Amino acid sequence: MLLEIKNLHVEVGGKEVLKGIDLKVGSGELHVIMGPNGSGKTTLAKAIVGLSGVKVKEGDILFDGKSIINMSIDERARMGIFMQYQNPVEIEGVSFLSFLSTAKSSMEGSADMKKLMEEVKKGIKELGMSEEVIKRPVNLGFSGGEKKKSEILQMNILKPKIAILDEPDSGLDVDAVKIVGREISKAAASGTGCIVITHYTRILSALELKGNNVVHVLYDGKIVENGGKELAEKIEKEGYSILH
Ligand SMILES: Nc1ncnc2c1ncn2[C@@H]1O[C@H](COP(=O)(O)OP(=O)(O)OP(=O)(O)O)[C@@H](O)[C@H]1O
Ligand SMILES: [Mg+2]
Repeated sequence: MLLEIKNLHVEVGGKEVLKGIDLKVGSGELHVIMGPNGSGKTTLAKAIVGLSGVKVKEGDILFDGKSIINMSIDERARMGIFMQYQNPVEIEGVSFLSFLSTAKSSMEGSADMKKLMEEVKKGIKELGMSEEVIKRPVNLGFSGGEKKKSEILQMNILKPKIAILDEPDSGLDVDAVKIVGREISKAAASGTGCIVITHYTRILSALELKGNNVVHVLYDGKIVENGGKELAEKIEKEGYSILH
């Protein structure tokens, strides 16, 4: 199994936020996590990528069968764990292109700049982005939608083993949601295990969800329900009150 989360208990700022999470994601699988504000979705994503301030108190996270909870965020990134942030940070002084080449060479040992340029050009076209944007420092002055798309572009270029996308659809216009959904489905089809955190079913129609254990509902730090696409539709219609 690519990613296996076992009875994960996590503390943030002295408060237990995750209270025993179990989740398995295989290569090429596409999973969706829904849940009310403050239920712990971003905390779960941070625990997987290894962001500081998120303390594992109990349980484990296995990647390719090995525990990663004591590994640094950089080590995990080099192993192929990628996260799209809910609020992407602006990195002053570093162009998007040099940021990408640094990330790629740390994952693969080296980066072929010519090939990278070609991939970037193809990628921005597919995402409907302007070429001008990637010459600017990472995320600096990018619009909300451009930030989200630039992170999808990073995912497409870096081809991680696992990608966690924290609200990739928020703030996007209708066409952009479809494009982003399509790109995530393509990443999964090419073997990346994808976890998409979202509040809305709109992106789900653009995602190729397969099976009946791919939508997970997080509620107060626990996964309280698992299902297929119909579970997400039920939540959109009836709200989270159906869970308690
Ligand atoms: N540094 C911190 N100190 C104290 N509490 C925190 C800290 N970071 C997060 N929390 C709390 O942990 C809980 C879960 O937060 P988290 O960001 O994981 O929620 P979420 O499910 O992603 O919500 P949203 O849908 O609003 O993005 C919240 O109650 C939040 O206030
Ligand atoms: Mg969140």
